[in-house]
Amino acid sequence: MDECKVIAVTNQKGGVGKTTTTVNLGVGLAMQNKKVLLIDMDPQSSLTLSLGFRNPDDLYPTTTDVMNNVIEDGEITKEFTVYKGSEGVDLLPADLQLCGLEVQLVNEMSREQVLKTYVDTVKNKYDFILIDCMPSLGLLTFNALCAADSVIIPTQPEYLSAKGLEQLIGTIGRIKKRMNPSLRIDGILLTMVDSRTLFSRDVSDLIRNTYSKYTKVYGSVIPRSVRAAETSAEGKSIFLHDPNGKVAKAYENLAKEVLDDGRAQRVKNRADRVR
Ligand SMILES: Nc1ncnc2c1ncn2[C@@H]1O[C@H](COP(=O)(O)OP(=O)(O)O)[C@@H](O)[C@H]1O
Ligand SMILES: [Mg+2]
Repeated sequence: MDECKVIAVTNQKGGVGKTTTTVNLGVGLAMQNKKVLLIDMDPQSSLTLSLGFRNPDDLYPTTTDVMNNVIEDGEITKEFTVYKGSEGVDLLPADLQLCGLEVQLVNEMSREQVLKTYVDTVKNKYDFILIDCMPSLGLLTFNALCAADSVIIPTQPEYLSAKGLEQLIGTIGRIKKRMNPSLRIDGILLTMVDSRTLFSRDVSDLIRNTYSKYTKVYGSVIPRSVRAAETSAEGKSIFLHDPNGKVAKAYENLAKEVLDDGRAQRVKNRADRVR
């Protein structure tokens, strides 16, 4: 198996499509025969609910449990079973107690590296691990960014979120400098794009022009569609809910783009090592 790639899906702004992207990119990659683990790092458990688990607080183990295990110096090689999602992806669910853990983390040693310690023990089983982040730039998100090899930033084409992007790119730069030197931004993903409105098109162009000097903006763009909005309540991916729709097509394209990038990156890494 090729090396596992760990991707944090991050934006400190809520409602930009992080969770929807984690689910559908994850299932999209599984449909391309990749072994995928999804990690829910949001105490609101949206990812867990979106995969059809109705009572996150009844699940064990959760992200809170595995992180607590690391903090308590538990056997980090301990085999935690992960939940099998119905659509070919594994899930490490989140519960509300993750909130409390974030507070507790403040006093821990290497508090940003706790999730990474866990992730490193399960990496050999997967091709991709996707981490769904909460809408903040707090310790839980820092943990995701330290555990990750790269970041995907979903954003809605709005002027306001374009501003927030600068702050996010700055934070990622600082984490890279101080804690995770190999962290890279894979790309910005435009979500909920209403291609019929001029406004949306203008801002998409603005984001492409402004950020293409720092990072790639994915060629795949996720259209706005009520069918996508229905999926989280259904507890299914778009590939089950509306397999022939434009959003399923868009996430399928994104999965292929992510696979192509991964291949290109591996070739580059190998070349760098030889040099
Ligand atoms: N492509 C889309 N078209 C329409 N609605 C969407 C789309 N993607 C996500 N949504 C809806 O927008 C809301 C926010 O999406 P979500 O993925 O939960 O964002 P985040 O995780 O960033 O908070 C949810 O209600 C979701 O169902
Ligand atoms: Mg979310």
